[in-house]
Amino acid sequence: KKRVVSGVQPTGSIHLGNYLGAIKNWVALQDTYETLFIIVDCHAITLPYDTHQLGKATTDTAALYLACGIDVSKASVFVQSHVPAHAQLMWLLSASTPIGWLKKMTQFKEKSRKEGAEDASVALFTYPDLMTADILLYQSDFVPVGEDQKQHIELAREIAQRVNHLYGGRKWKKLGGRGGSLFKIPEPLIPQAGARVMSLTDGLSKMSKSAPSDQSRINLLDSKDLIVDKIKRCKTDSFAGLEFDNAERPECKNLLSVYQIVSGKTKEEVTEECKDMSWGTFKPLLADALIEHLSPIQARYQEIVAEPAYLDKVLSEGADRAAELGDVTMRNMHQAMGFYQRR
Ligand code: TYM
Repeated sequence: KKRVVSGVQPTGSIHLGNYLGAIKNWVALQDTYETLFIIVDCHAITLPYDTHQLGKATTDTAALYLACGIDVSKASVFVQSHVPAHAQLMWLLSASTPIGWLKKMTQFKEKSRKEGAEDASVALFTYPDLMTADILLYQSDFVPVGEDQKQHIELAREIAQRVNHLYGGRKWKKLGGRGGSLFKIPEPLIPQAGARVMSLTDGLSKMSKSAPSDQSRINLLDSKDLIVDKIKRCKTDSFAGLEFDNAERPECKNLLSVYQIVSGKTKEEVTEECKDMSWGTFKPLLADALIEHLSPIQARYQEIVAEPAYLDKVLSEGADRAAELGDVTMRNMHQAMGFYQRR
């Protein structure tokens, strides 16, 4: 079976962008592929964070994965820090990563600018190596993510190719290995719709956990009243009718896209349904569709968090499975890089 790996950082609350760009699409993959879904807590410490929140955010994120439809009889769900091989592989990969490649990462540039370039942590800089390790450790074929992670996956592909070239093939064989490639080259899976959900207060910036205003996003656990209120107050425009493809109307495109996905309709159906609508008619329709889509997720979430022992068991089994798969890669890497094996 081909393998799929992805993850979400346990920071702040999981929002509609994380769901439509990533988690919702994971659910559709678990029948066809061997899937591993990670709560990437080691990524969440790269920016200043609250030590009293990290643990809870981690189990909350895991509970949301399950509530959104991840089925643990098919998928492995686990916490990144529970599988030390992620950090170990990252170190090995960092030896094959030119500094210049990391300096090109736009997320690093943006986030470090906010921190003040010299104050940003080294971990924020090397973060793409850790993400590469998450992917390569499991010999993943596909990585389902939103648009903003595309550059990181391209980097993972380049690192995989470089390591294969530097340490694989005949050189590895001479060291007693199987020869050939050490890593599969992973491919991103980016959805047609939902790959870049935009802020509710500005159709030109993406919906994000770190945006200071909570009005800018719909969190998966927002109450009905809050969803109605956020949609009522979200930014719109003064054109007549609603349309997807007018570059002057980024908010309109975004809200129609969200409506399309959560209502399960096609773009053509939504175009037809909404072309003569006013914002006053559309907004309650969108809020209702969101509530209808999110209510069952919220109900399942409440059931799951009410049983922490169950969730702990799921995470523990997931980590065991992941560690088993990761071990193979780590043994090969140590061998191919010429490390002396402990006997
Ligand atoms: P993170 O935690 O920022 O986001 C998790 C997932 O949500 C997607 N996403 C969005 N999609 C559409 N519209 C948006 N506004 C939006 N905001 C976020 C992201 O693209 C992502 O798929 N580095 C990653 C986590 C990670 C990872 C991995 C992913 C660590 N290791 C290995 C895949 C494989 C991150 O910070 O995602």
